[in-house]
Amino acid sequence: MRLNRYLVAVCNLIIAIFLIGGLAMAQEKVVITVAAGAVGQELELTREAAQRYMEAHPDVEVRVIDTPDLATDRYGLYLQFFEARSSDIDVYQIDVIWPGDLAEHLLDLYEFGAKEIADEHFPAIIENNTVDGRLVGIPWFTDAGLLYYRTDLLEKYGLEVPKTWAEFEEVARIIQEGERAEGNEDFWGFVWQGNAYEGLTCNALEWICSNGGGTIISPDGVITINNPNAIEAIEMAARWVGTISPAGVTGFAEEDARSLFQSGNAAFMRNWPYAYALGQSEESVIAGKFDVASLPAGRSGHGAATLGGWQLAVSKYSNNPEIAADVALFMASPEEQKIRAIKGSFTPTIMTLYEDPEVLESAPFFGTLYDVLINAVARPSTVTAPNYNEVSTLFFRAVHSVLTGAKDATTALEELELELQALTGFEIGEP
Ligand code: GLC
Repeated sequence: MRLNRYLVAVCNLIIAIFLIGGLAMAQEKVVITVAAGAVGQELELTREAAQRYMEAHPDVEVRVIDTPDLATDRYGLYLQFFEARSSDIDVYQIDVIWPGDLAEHLLDLYEFGAKEIADEHFPAIIENNTVDGRLVGIPWFTDAGLLYYRTDLLEKYGLEVPKTWAEFEEVARIIQEGERAEGNEDFWGFVWQGNAYEGLTCNALEWICSNGGGTIISPDGVITINNPNAIEAIEMAARWVGTISPAGVTGFAEEDARSLFQSGNAAFMRNWPYAYALGQSEESVIAGKFDVASLPAGRSGHGAATLGGWQLAVSKYSNNPEIAADVALFMASPEEQKIRAIKGSFTPTIMTLYEDPEVLESAPFFGTLYDVLINAVARPSTVTAPNYNEVSTLFFRAVHSVLTGAKDATTALEELELELQALTGFEIGEP
């Protein structure tokens, strides 16, 4: 009898253990999927951050998936997920130009803990990311177009960092000719982003704005693009193709320019801050041989840097919005932005990091070019939302047609002006 009872007790215990074990297995981790960029060190750094989050939250699995390098392609991919109301992606890395276009698919982070921390970030970026009072993205890093230049080559040829586009063309030509004469047939004066995508919109805005040609569409909604200074600026860039820049530059994005510059085969590069840490890394042949400056000036008398940058946004279609928002706020926190600034020269959006000695030591231009970084020129995304992507597509196609010689700048901008008017219904005016 007693043995029987004992056996029953043991059996019960075994069943209980199986039940508890089974329950634990059934209680799977919450999976949060983050759609992230993979330009330069982006993916690696985002995965490291995800790892740190998971260590602190063992019940959550953060999966970081990479997305196309070209912002325009990434936008197209995101739209597919949003239009399908897909819950597959919880957190999206969104471009500074997208809050207005994508707001309807994104949650208000003010409802998920961002109220307390929003004022740590640059107010202008918070404002950019606020659509109808809703904060649709927490700033992650900011961007501004910079001029990368080879310090060793300027010194070798006894030249200064050019301040105007006219000086710039001359300096790039002299160095290119000199290096080629010494046997490097593959050497180029200047590499930049000339492919037909959002990156070309950024480059072209810099040429035009620095030449007093406005910002395509003004912040108050006037189409200003068809003007002589803009035409002149685009003609200037078209002249670079095949002379101081490779003919293939009309197919270049950020990483194409960086790989050519980082291989030591270009005197100048237009790129974003992320290229700095990679260029200075141990494996880089140009480490210690380059620096960054503001882009040259045209008729306006000062250079212009396009404002870029990325935010973390939570999808309205996420099944776990609270945890997704927690992941986003963690990744954009001061501690995480500091790591990205030091390892990847990603420009922080947290103001106090510009006083952090370790951050300033790893990327000294965060201090020396602070004004350039925070006064960068915005693309007309707020005023044209939710049609900015279409505005930009019309613009970069028009510019690209001039760069490839398919159209002259006067015709291309005349046609663009009408297309923009048909799309937006805005008036036409002077910059
Ligand atoms: C960078 C910028 C982004 C811009 C893109 C264009 O990623 O941060 O704002 O749209 O480059 O290529």
